[in-house]
Amino acid sequence: MPTQFESDQHAMRYALEIARRGLGNVEPNPAVGALVVAPDRTLVSEGWHREFGGPHAEVHAIQAAGNDLAGNDLFVTLEPCSHHGQTPPCVDLVLQHQFRRVVIGCSDPAAHVNGQGIAQLRENGVDVVEGICGAEAARLIAPFRTLQLNGRPWVHAKWAMTMDGRIASRTGHSKWISNERSREYVHQLRGRMDVILTGRGTVVADNPLLTARPEGARRPLRAVLDSTGESLTNDSQLLRTANEVPVAVFATAHCTDAEQARLQRAGVECIVVDADGRGRPDVDAVLLELGRRRCTNLLVESGPGILGALFDSEKVDELHVFVAPKIVGGVKALSPVGGLGRANIPELPNLQNVRTRDFEGDVLIQADVSRG
Ligand SMILES: NC(=O)c1ccc[n+]([C@@H]2O[C@H](COP(=O)([O-])OP(=O)(O)OC[C@H]3O[C@@H](n4cnc5c(N)ncnc54)[C@H](OP(=O)(O)O)[C@@H]3O)[C@@H](O)[C@H]2O)c1
Repeated sequence: MPTQFESDQHAMRYALEIARRGLGNVEPNPAVGALVVAPDRTLVSEGWHREFGGPHAEVHAIQAAGNDLAGNDLFVTLEPCSHHGQTPPCVDLVLQHQFRRVVIGCSDPAAHVNGQGIAQLRENGVDVVEGICGAEAARLIAPFRTLQLNGRPWVHAKWAMTMDGRIASRTGHSKWISNERSREYVHQLRGRMDVILTGRGTVVADNPLLTARPEGARRPLRAVLDSTGESLTNDSQLLRTANEVPVAVFATAHCTDAEQARLQRAGVECIVVDADGRGRPDVDAVLLELGRRRCTNLLVESGPGILGALFDSEKVDELHVFVAPKIVGGVKALSPVGGLGRANIPELPNLQNVRTRDFEGDVLIQADVSRG
């Protein structure tokens, strides 16, 4: 923990670091960090939003600092809230303490805040500095922003492929392409999701369980796209565990009443959505339904069918791709993303913030899909 900062950016980067401790616990709220910093840039106290419904980061930082805070600076990664939600407005608390400056990472995209917190601070004579590490601060709350502005969860796509770019052999066999260490990381990723999404093809080929083992901060809904619901046979692992960890099937009108009744008896929720042009559950309708349920993060663990539909619809936000040092060969071996794809290279989505990690020989490549 630093005791003194070299610059506003340095302090804000630390506030962002502590904010990340809330990821997985605070959703559908954003992860936020706050610091009280003396005018000589000494750290006085810190706080972060720890759990949904709990006090905001500013409250934790101010409470940890004690009483006489006048003349100090408050750093906060997200604009303080100005409305009565599950907790009182942070702006009122900030004003009470007569900070010298309030330094903010990014504004709050939620319609009920959206600059009003900053405006109220300024109207009351507070010196507000905005946009310090603004891009990093905005990235931290990107899933929250997507839910607020687009009404759907942030879509993470994960797959494991060989060095020749295949996710399964020509027979559909795929267990296991990545190593144990990589799969351990996938379980950690699952544990901070609201939904794990797959398709009928993967359920039939792999009979997956799709739980986080060990459990993480969240217990994600396991969702399957399947027009008829028939892939969830009475023997499937998903159906057999539906009363322990929730399972939903997104189907179309092709799912018969008898099939819906069978699924419901087994504890599987059956959600009938509109069909797309090919008569399959429409991925946009599925995402909007999950957004209505305030799901913030969704992890796709499917084959090329569902990934292709999501890429074609430009709904993938973040990639987690494991490349294993293996070659499977074969023109009929599956590549990760199906669908229509792009005709010309200049049309490809722009990937940003590319980072790589080594997992005992497997390489994990992560990137964000840019929408700008
Ligand atoms: N290595 C990895 O990371 C990894 C991960 C997962 C799966 N896999 C492999 O992937 C293979 C399965 O591939 P897949 O493409 O069949 O699996 P998938 O993407 O899980 O499922 C595709 C199927 O889902 C149904 N579907 C429902 N709604 C859809 C929509 N809106 N768009 C497209 N499809 C929709 C379609 O079935 P209908 O046509 O019957 O309606 C489609 O054939 C298996 O071999 C599995 O082992 C590999």
